[in-house]
Amino acid sequence: MKALVLSGGAGTRLRPITHTSAKQLVPVANKPVLFYGLESIAAAGITEVGVIVGDTAAEIEEAVGDGSKFGLEITYIPQDRPLGLAHAVLIARDFLGDDDFVMYLGDNFIVGGISELVDEFRVNRPAAQILLTHVPDPRSFGVAELDSEGQVIGLEEKPESPKSDLALVGVYLFTSVIHEAVRAIEPSWRGELEITHAIQHLIDLHADVHSTVIKGYWKDTGNVVDMLEVNRTVLETIEHRVDGEVDERSELVGRVVVEEGARVTGSRVVGPVIIGAGTVVSDSYVGPFTSVSENCRIQDSELEFSIVLRDSSIQGVGRIESSLIGRHVEVTPTVGMPTVHRLVLGDHSKVQIHS
Ligand code: G1P
Repeated sequence: MKALVLSGGAGTRLRPITHTSAKQLVPVANKPVLFYGLESIAAAGITEVGVIVGDTAAEIEEAVGDGSKFGLEITYIPQDRPLGLAHAVLIARDFLGDDDFVMYLGDNFIVGGISELVDEFRVNRPAAQILLTHVPDPRSFGVAELDSEGQVIGLEEKPESPKSDLALVGVYLFTSVIHEAVRAIEPSWRGELEITHAIQHLIDLHADVHSTVIKGYWKDTGNVVDMLEVNRTVLETIEHRVDGEVDERSELVGRVVVEEGARVTGSRVVGPVIIGAGTVVSDSYVGPFTSVSENCRIQDSELEFSIVLRDSSIQGVGRIESSLIGRHVEVTPTVGMPTVHRLVLGDHSKVQIHS
């Protein structure tokens, strides 16, 4: 069995972060979201992995390398344009051969991994096995309709009037019959070859399509709110560990990770929180569900329920909450002026100011 991991895509809903960084590399608890997927593929006993890459290929290849650090053998497969998930299967045909495979969307996050699912698939080998989960608003997902016995009878991609609240999760298992299906379908209204349509094609041919409604936690980390939520869930599982320095004027409450080379002085940190290597937190409060990456500076500030990417600095600005802050960002107060906001914001930035 092989794996096909999708790491292309523009990440428009995570702009401006994704103007300069691949969405699959945005860190959750200071580790790229893609790495959690690769680790769960390795844990399921799969070693041969094809990674579909687009415009951000160089960055993905630099982060993932040849896969050996995950115990994987990685083959990169370039996709010139984001023409859809079924198109990714089309261009991976040589790599996949006639083997069974799991297709894993690199920005999806599944707590508990995929080992059980892969084992079950290895035994039953249906034409396709899909994962479903109940969501409050299914309109931005593929949506499944089941009959009274729980059998999938129809799939629609991003329907305006969904027939159920069961969204397709971004992990799919296939035998080689999917290759005929991806060749048989036409592009959708958004110009993409949809895997949803390819699976519907299998249903139309009365092929065996299994579905599992997952109880575990799943998120498509395509937007900031979900990203913060995934970060919260992963931080719930961290163990307290202090490898950096914490001075006697500071207080750590609950589970806090202070990585090697990080320094906390005169501050109160209430976990779960992770402070990355080389980061300095001084005279500040860092509250629950916050991940601060490497080489940041948090000074005279309060930060809670947020993700700060590396090399950023937040100084003297009061309280920041529910925020995703990119790399090399500076947040500072205005001095010697009337009360004004001075902003230098990249394209597609979003700022909410208390007025
Ligand atoms: C894709 C699939 C959709 C699925 C979703 C899961 O959507 O097309 O069926 O529910 O992934 O993350 P996209 O990310 O292309 O909007």
